[in-house]
Amino acid sequence: MNSSSFGRLGIPRLMPIPVEGPDLDRGSVLHNLVGEYMHRTPESAAAHRRATAVMPGGETRCITYYAPYPLSVAKGLGAELTDIDGHRYIDLVNNYTTLVHGNAYAPAAAAAAQALVDGAVFPSTHRSQVHLAELLVKRVESVEQVRFTNSGTEASLLAARLVRYATGRTRLLVFDGGYHGSVPLGGTNDVVTVPYNDLDAVREALCAGDIAAVFAEPFLGAGGVVPGRPGFLSEVAGLARSNGALFVLDEVQSLRNSVGGEQGRLGLHPDLTLMGKIIGGGMPLGAVGGTTRLMKLTAADRSGFLRHSGTFNGHLSAAAAGAATLNHLDSGVIDVLNVKAEFLANTIGNIASDAGLPMAVTRAGSILQVHTTATEVPTTAEHVRGTAGPLQDALHLALLLEGVYTTPRGMINLSTALTTDHLTSVLAAYTRAFQLLAHDLRNAA
Ligand SMILES: Cc1ncc(COP(=O)(O)O)c(C=O)c1O
Repeated sequence: MNSSSFGRLGIPRLMPIPVEGPDLDRGSVLHNLVGEYMHRTPESAAAHRRATAVMPGGETRCITYYAPYPLSVAKGLGAELTDIDGHRYIDLVNNYTTLVHGNAYAPAAAAAAQALVDGAVFPSTHRSQVHLAELLVKRVESVEQVRFTNSGTEASLLAARLVRYATGRTRLLVFDGGYHGSVPLGGTNDVVTVPYNDLDAVREALCAGDIAAVFAEPFLGAGGVVPGRPGFLSEVAGLARSNGALFVLDEVQSLRNSVGGEQGRLGLHPDLTLMGKIIGGGMPLGAVGGTTRLMKLTAADRSGFLRHSGTFNGHLSAAAAGAATLNHLDSGVIDVLNVKAEFLANTIGNIASDAGLPMAVTRAGSILQVHTTATEVPTTAEHVRGTAGPLQDALHLALLLEGVYTTPRGMINLSTALTTDHLTSVLAAYTRAFQLLAHDLRNAA
């Protein structure tokens, strides 16, 4: 490992320089990293100031904010991003798991562009939508029919309406740390929340009665990439059904992990499946899929059907880009992604331990999370919340300064555009970042 592995991206060795930054302990590693970050990214700072005048907080998606200000990305191609100061980064965010083939994936871009030329929104069903629905039905065993939305959030909201309509019940059971989109599925009276991986809590809530459906992710995604314990989700599905409730699996994030989604790998047969992210190939698209018995409740040719509409539902650019993406995501491709992710997770864990840092790395398929200050592997969202803090912030900034673009919370994921050279550079960056943090922790002790 040497600085030459970073030379390719034009990134100098990480050397924090103290300058004035936000209100942080002077001389702390985070203070110094913020200083260097601000020194290196004046154009991003100016862009953030400009945005702040007309957009609250200077952003339009709160998850993309981090202090002192987020990088302004100008361009993405394959596995690399360029910010407006001209620095290049290896992309381990992939728009929060969406870009499974990397940025500006040529087959998806070409398909989306062709749809724009041919007309991408009509008040009619189009063969591109039917084609994508057929692909999803073919891939995901429990999905017999599909309805499109514009996002994963809208898919969750449609599913929430559908399960309430189908059961005549209003309350939903969800998991602490579960994320089903940016709009809540109901008020506190309508949504019961229990800890993930806690079967007793699920049983108790379901036995209390009146639950229309359990909404679960195959692993907590936004909640910290926390996998379900073996058998947990199939037991949850069984408990739901024996209590007259439906089982909804949110595969918005996890569909990339196996051709049939995580449900294929885990042997689950949800009543409804939520989909999003990769199915739009980088364009906004979501979907609810499920049994014909349930899905046909939304069919407009039935009397008393559940109305579901939306001007842009199943946008044709998104449908075409999604099909192009899925057509290049077969089981061989997914296996390679997952094996690389396993290697990355193990190696990052070993590097942290060699540096003497208490960290855990969790993984589900090609999605990982590095938990700073974790003395054991988190199994609930509460454990994950306990690992957040200044060390996490420092790791994020240190990696950015090393030319590796990760999420502030430590989640990373792989795209098929990442080469072995990229992964070598990523591991070198983690090594240096961990050494820097460990050095600071030793000094502080
Ligand atoms: C599991 C899960 N469900 C739903 C959503 C919401 O999707 P969208 O951001 O497209 O609305 C997300 C987004 O991150 C997600 O991870």
